[in-house]
Amino acid sequence: MNQPRIVVLTGAGISAESGVRTFRDNGGLWEEHRVEDVATPQAWATNPEMVWRFYQARRRQLQEVEPNDAHHALTHLQNNLEQVTLITQNVDDLHERSGSSEVVHMHGELKTLRCEMSLRSEVRMEPSDLTDDVALCSCCAQPSAMRPDIVWFGEMPMHMLEIMNAIDTCDVFIVVGSSGHVYPAAGLVDQANNAGAHTILVNLEAPINAAAFDEVHLGPAGELLPKLVSTLLNDND
Ligand code: APR
Repeated sequence: MNQPRIVVLTGAGISAESGVRTFRDNGGLWEEHRVEDVATPQAWATNPEMVWRFYQARRRQLQEVEPNDAHHALTHLQNNLEQVTLITQNVDDLHERSGSSEVVHMHGELKTLRCEMSLRSEVRMEPSDLTDDVALCSCCAQPSAMRPDIVWFGEMPMHMLEIMNAIDTCDVFIVVGSSGHVYPAAGLVDQANNAGAHTILVNLEAPINAAAFDEVHLGPAGELLPKLVSTLLNDND
């Protein structure tokens, strides 16, 4: 029997059990900042020092957190089925560090910085890259300032064509740890339903788009996702 094409979309909830703060669980504050005050091009234009310090603190935090059982469950799924596309709204590298490959980061990544002149991104996680001093690019003759390689509110998410194609052709679409507040990510379940996919949600509590899913599992992803993955793998033994 040919294997199902599975697309997984993860949100901040999958990293919660690793100790990475979500955006909307703690009254909308993100590391004591309102998201709108640090995650917009306007904030970067008007108060770059504050935005830079905010992201440098989160980049440094990457070294203090580890993948959890939910990340490992998705790596196990990828290792045992050929057609699994892993898309994440998260900017941490926990999927990669749990062994997942070809992770599609639609909101950018903390471990890379982007040159403001050439728009090229490069991994910059050496100790000298993690201070509060401005980081300079290595791609321009005259080194330019770099910005966080993050998709801010009002900017276009990355890899959307690849994401839409994957969802249009999938058999199963799984969302893990997302509140369904931010588009286009929150609307992908509707696209999956229109494509005839079986849609599954794993979330601590019912998000605002819970009704769109065929199957809803409420509880911690670290507990529920390993069970769901083993069911999916047994069904396709
Ligand atoms: N297991 C499963 N789900 C969890 C867990 C857990 N242990 N802990 C929290 N959650 C759920 C919460 O119930 C919530 O519905 O994860 C969801 C996190 O929602 P948000 O904080 O809104 O994060 P997310 O949906 O990823 O935000 C989307 O918004 O701020 C922007 O760009 C940012 O990518 C982010 C986007």
